[in-house]
Amino acid sequence: MASDRATTHRRLERMDELVSLCARRGFVFPSSEIYGGINGFWDYGPLGVELKNNLKQWWWQRVVRERSDVEGVDSSIIAHPRTWDASGHTEHFSDPMVDCRACKKRFRADQLEDAGKCSAREGSSEHDLTEPRSFNLMFSTMIGASEDAAAQAYLRPETCQSLFNDFKRVREASRQKLPFGIAQIGKAFRNEINPRNFTFRSREFEQAEMEFFCHPSERERWFEHWRDERMKFHHDLGLDPARLRTRSHADDELAHYCKAAVDVEYEFPFGWQEIEGIHDRGDWDLSRHSEYSGKDLGITNPETKERFVPMVIETSVGIDRTCLAILADAFVVEELEGGESRTLLQIHPRLAPIKVAVLPLSKKLAEPAHTLSDGLRKRFNVFYDDAGNIGRRYRRQDEVGTPFCVTYDFESVDDGCVTIRERDSMSQDRVSIDAVSRYLTERVEPAA
Ligand code: GAP
Repeated sequence: MASDRATTHRRLERMDELVSLCARRGFVFPSSEIYGGINGFWDYGPLGVELKNNLKQWWWQRVVRERSDVEGVDSSIIAHPRTWDASGHTEHFSDPMVDCRACKKRFRADQLEDAGKCSAREGSSEHDLTEPRSFNLMFSTMIGASEDAAAQAYLRPETCQSLFNDFKRVREASRQKLPFGIAQIGKAFRNEINPRNFTFRSREFEQAEMEFFCHPSERERWFEHWRDERMKFHHDLGLDPARLRTRSHADDELAHYCKAAVDVEYEFPFGWQEIEGIHDRGDWDLSRHSEYSGKDLGITNPETKERFVPMVIETSVGIDRTCLAILADAFVVEELEGGESRTLLQIHPRLAPIKVAVLPLSKKLAEPAHTLSDGLRKRFNVFYDDAGNIGRRYRRQDEVGTPFCVTYDFESVDDGCVTIRERDSMSQDRVSIDAVSRYLTERVEPAA
């Protein structure tokens, strides 16, 4: 099509463009939407769950499978409550909060520009704020029927504490020697005072964390190793390098458990924000869990007989935040020569929710086109669409980031070939039907 040439293109400017695309096309939308939603909670739809799973699989492949020195686990969300005393969360995991007496809203004392917005909206020039109070961000729950304090438990605010609880068991079961790591992906919960920026700050979210245990003399080396590895990962996802940076924490920013920290930040339309943290947690966690559990989690060097508590280098990435960065980064609007425009998501093929759309040029070609798509389905996530004109069908796939569209036309019946159109360049290749699977494999599952 002559009109299919882009004259200009622009990136995402406002988050609401992405929020509306995500809801309309079934990536992410408010949880319990029919009841008006619930602030800080989101549901991933048919395309969102594919994107998220592809990201989690890539992380698992890179951090666990491709290394001989990292083991995976999947621990329970509710841990023994003493875990959170040992980790410091019962005491320290809180934000200062203030209430506005006029509008009855609650704000983080360190984000008071939000309170400014509230007073502007209410038409008042002054806000009537209470003194800051400390508000613990852990969600609490009760175990069993008993209502007494002993039955109180928490939904984990980070996934990593079970990796310390399980340290001895995993080391012995897997026969790992230092240095080695334990990793997991799972849900975490924080009762954030002001959830905001779409999924960026949610109350329920997913983390992919890895705790790497090493001898005290090697902590700097491993910190640098993991900082570089993790930055490489974000580049490999295809995120624009100009919108990625690392930022070291100043001493007064460090969390209570941290000796050093570097954030990986992405430049969203709402500014530079953290998507991952790499932390030198020292011996804080193993020492505290040894103290609180009464079980010595130290290690003896078999050669020197030296007894020591391993140091921990942590990598902690938000899956939802990274998905948001991927979507924000991929969003492009192109003006085409014919005057039309197209919205596309330039997602890395390995992350794309749908890998290939099979589009018969006419409903009369449904049977052979179905045979082709059913064959491809064993290997790829395939979308079959025979409704509407072909240009519109391409646009619908562009908008959700499908890297390839296979068009089955009337000639296909005779020559055994189909046309494969690539999303970003819109270039087309004529490929033998027998070779389609190989063609796609080479392009959507590139060697790591
Ligand atoms: N174990 C260390 C830890 O949890 P963190 O910096 O508090 O460190 C790590 O969290 C990552 O988890 C963040 O970089 C972010 O990607 C994600 N995260 C934290 N709070 C979040 C929230 N409220 N909503 C979405 N993601 C969040």
